[in-house]
Amino acid sequence: MYQETKFPYQLMSPAKAELETWVNTIGRQTNAAKVHWCDGSKEEYDSICNLLVNKGTFIRLNPEKRPNSFACFSDPSDVARVEDKTFICSRIKEDAGPTNNWMAPKDMKVILNELMEESMTGRTLYVIPFCMGPLGSPYSRYGVQITDSEYVVVNMYIMTRMGDAVYQYLQPGEFVKCIHTIGAPLHNGAKDVLWPCNPTVKYISHFPDERLIVSYGSGYGGNALMGKKCFALRIASVLGREEGWLAEHMLILGVESPEKQKTYVAAAFPSACGKTNFSMMIPAKGMDSWKVTTIGDDIAWIHKGDDGRLHAINPEAGYFGVAPGTNYQTNPNAMESIKSNTIFTNVAVTKDGDVWWEGMTKEIPEGLTDWHGHPYDPTSGKPAAHPNSRFTAPAYQNPALDPEWDNVKGVPVEAFVFGGRRATAVPLVCQSFNWNFGVYTAATMGSETTAAAFGEVGKVRRDPFAMLPFMGYHMGDYVNHWLQFGRDLPNAPRIFSVNWFRKDENGKFLWPGFGENMRVLKWIVQRVHGGAGAVECPIGWMPRYEDMDWTGIDNFTKDDFAKIMTIDREPWKQELLSHEELFAKLYDRLPKEFYFLRELLLSALWRSPEHWELSSEIA
Ligand code: GTP
Ligand code: SPV
Ligand code: MN
Repeated sequence: MYQETKFPYQLMSPAKAELETWVNTIGRQTNAAKVHWCDGSKEEYDSICNLLVNKGTFIRLNPEKRPNSFACFSDPSDVARVEDKTFICSRIKEDAGPTNNWMAPKDMKVILNELMEESMTGRTLYVIPFCMGPLGSPYSRYGVQITDSEYVVVNMYIMTRMGDAVYQYLQPGEFVKCIHTIGAPLHNGAKDVLWPCNPTVKYISHFPDERLIVSYGSGYGGNALMGKKCFALRIASVLGREEGWLAEHMLILGVESPEKQKTYVAAAFPSACGKTNFSMMIPAKGMDSWKVTTIGDDIAWIHKGDDGRLHAINPEAGYFGVAPGTNYQTNPNAMESIKSNTIFTNVAVTKDGDVWWEGMTKEIPEGLTDWHGHPYDPTSGKPAAHPNSRFTAPAYQNPALDPEWDNVKGVPVEAFVFGGRRATAVPLVCQSFNWNFGVYTAATMGSETTAAAFGEVGKVRRDPFAMLPFMGYHMGDYVNHWLQFGRDLPNAPRIFSVNWFRKDENGKFLWPGFGENMRVLKWIVQRVHGGAGAVECPIGWMPRYEDMDWTGIDNFTKDDFAKIMTIDREPWKQELLSHEELFAKLYDRLPKEFYFLRELLLSALWRSPEHWELSSEIA
């Protein structure tokens, strides 16, 4: 029998009554065994981690190698976001738009109410008050997540500002209500498993009209840590549209020139396409007089300030980063960030109690335990760590953390960068002619799908603004919101597109990437400040070889540069044709400008050589 709970603090919370009623309603419905109001203390974090160790869900890693850190293996059904089970339940169907799954709120609630009936039987209901953004910032937003997953509590502890200090900021009717249950009830004598979830039924449902999110059946990342994609992108995008700001799937970085000029840049790449890496990059050899610092690695909230500039905050407080490919060459700052106090999900565990994943070292260590928890057989042809295995680490452990990262005013953004994962066609870097062209380029961006979401990997799809899986409303309205947003900016940020992932005929990456991306970033920053040369190409402005800094680069020639910057007419014709697909989807809400912009691009492509190479322009 559920025991009614009372708000346990002497502290004032303007939303105390609403909270109590809500928690008790959910507690009764789900038949929770007890209620734990989280205070966000380190003691609480440690004791819940211990509880997870005792349950067998967490493996405590060797304290000499990885102090206060844990590994866990999820259910194989629960390794990534589930886009086909993600719903925007707006009151009006058209408001969700053609790129989202929609269900009427009342229909979804019938399903969820039935599923949630007694779903927390035998489990503790945790109440997590959290703040997205610096505490007390005018740009921050507050939420409360109810969950029956200890894994979620400790991940939210790292990923958000959570705890009793948040209660005073909760206004009745304003804070976002997040209800999460793993959907693996313990009634009817069921035994618990190491990673409880519902292996077949999952619903990630958003009710933007009510500022409510209900997530059922999954314990994993973006499905369950509801501050992240559910709140900070899907619900926040709706708030941003109503209130005139932007909620974006963007990293924010600071870059300091040798002359100590600081520029903030925000960049949107789809999931597993390089945001974390770019946001904490250590510039390559020869570029070390430049310095990159991190504000955020995944999400940006961007407001217009009274000073006519854009102020960006990172709503998060930690990194839920892709493990595979991370090593001391590619991303030393990430490696430093995860040295302690880190939770690893679906990585492999070494025989001495440390972690490993593909790409961490050249040699595969002997005696690994794979992400299924079984002894690893390197001849199996399967990876030891899941391709979407992740680390959860606190931002303050990042050696490159920007001193302004927690500033309540945010930081001024001067450039936007959009990038996809494209093996062909798309050049290394290009600056859009102006804001409208930039919005067009971002809206029509294509990228290969990755392991961050369930489904086929490596398939090119249109992913407008890297927001396809994270939009809370109609994609056409969103594109219009972006156009409008730039219209009354006195000095709108410049917009760039990049592609680190172009390959040669043999499937090898043409661009060394990672720290070498500093060369591209330098050109971008110089363009923002009116320096650095460029030539007009069919799709924007591009640097010539001599417009970029090549100091210290090995094994990269002018010819290699030409290859990675080439614009071929035929694939670009295909590219522009594929925009049609998106146009048709969004047709009644597509900005009129877009038809003209596409015509302009097409005619530029026709005027230019079939094989457009920068070298031909240099003479
Ligand atoms: P989400 O957390 O899913 O939003 O991903 P993200 O955009 O932060 O991607 P992340 O930086 O974690 O990179 C994903 C994968 O791409 C990792 O395996 C990286 O090693 C790899 N990667 C990142 N940057 C580069 C690059 O410049 N070149 C190449 N070849 N790979 C890169
Ligand atoms: C992404 O998929 O873009 C992520 C990971 O950042 S998740 O939190 O699972 O959404
Ligand atoms: Mn992401």
